[in-house]
Amino acid sequence: MRYLEAIQPKLSRLADGNAAILAIESSCDETAAAVVTMDMQVLSSVIASQVDTHAIYGGVVPEIASRMHMEALPHVVSQALEQAGMGFDDIAAVAGTYGPGLVGALLTGLCYAKGIAYAKSLPFVGVNHMVGHIFANHISHPDLQPPYLCLLVSGGHTHLVLVEENMRLTVLGKSQDDAVGEAFDKVARILGLPYPGGPNLERLAAAGNAAAFSFTLPKLQNQMDFSFSGLKTAVVNLAHTMEQKGQPLPRADIAASFQAHAVEFLLYSTQAALEYTGATQLAICGGVSANGYLRAAAAQRCEQENIRLFLPDSLLTTDNAAMIGAAGAYQLKHGQLSGMEINAYPSLNIV
Ligand code: KG4
Ligand code: ZN
Repeated sequence: MRYLEAIQPKLSRLADGNAAILAIESSCDETAAAVVTMDMQVLSSVIASQVDTHAIYGGVVPEIASRMHMEALPHVVSQALEQAGMGFDDIAAVAGTYGPGLVGALLTGLCYAKGIAYAKSLPFVGVNHMVGHIFANHISHPDLQPPYLCLLVSGGHTHLVLVEENMRLTVLGKSQDDAVGEAFDKVARILGLPYPGGPNLERLAAAGNAAAFSFTLPKLQNQMDFSFSGLKTAVVNLAHTMEQKGQPLPRADIAASFQAHAVEFLLYSTQAALEYTGATQLAICGGVSANGYLRAAAAQRCEQENIRLFLPDSLLTTDNAAMIGAAGAYQLKHGQLSGMEINAYPSLNIV
């Protein structure tokens, strides 16, 4: 029987809020699997990180990432099923990330997920990784309802997205060059911190003086856009100049000053978008939303402005499959199924 015919009798199961979705994520350097219900309850979430291996090279090596996903996928999937107390026969649908990300890495998880769906004749849904990040807040805050403004901050993206009724997404602004996470990672590298730079830079910054150095932030035509390459270059130049003069690098002060400026830029453009849209709710998501300084600064700003702030639980900030399962559940509920021909799209846009 053809796949599409074989899944027809299974579709009615998706009306049950307790129906379980197996979700798989492999877009970068985490191999992740989760079991999430149609009601977005996370029954299990397993993440196998490759950071220790990539740290040797100072960044993600795409071919190594793909190969490590291949090895880890069977394990994370069986662990996710086991922790949820389920077997393949208890799963009602499969969700898998199909972009954006590293093409080889995406293909491993996508093919694995499609293979399970095909073998078990289960409905399949391809999920946009960035949309997955947006859904992290819906897992952490079941009361979050559109319309709201979403600041998506990760290693590859810095976007301001308006989320409206039926999860209709409109991109209001985005980085014109580096993503904020990328800038954290590059500055961390200059400061001699190991990969992944973001969390290590935050730790170092905690001991520094954020007012030690002042950097000029660019003025952009669209106030809801971002740009981080100038800030990154200013930090690099500062470090090089001090090194050339034989001065010891005040690493913690540089880290704290960079972090404060980066967060100021994020909140400045976010403020512009809040004013432009009149939104009264702000959600922040993506790996950089793990940053404590950003979380505290956003909370303070939102309190002043009477904006309701939503932040994901820390385990849902960086890459995971639970968010892919939640986005998949929403899409399946709205009849958005994917066929077996779905491919990986490394530069997939958010809309
Ligand atoms: O969402 P994510 O896990 O992967 C992508 O979709 O890119 O985000 C990873 C990014 C990396 O650049 C990492 O350095 C950054 O998020 N990150 C942080 C922190 N934790 C992760 N940046 C600043 N502070 C953190 N605590
Ligand atoms: Zn991500």
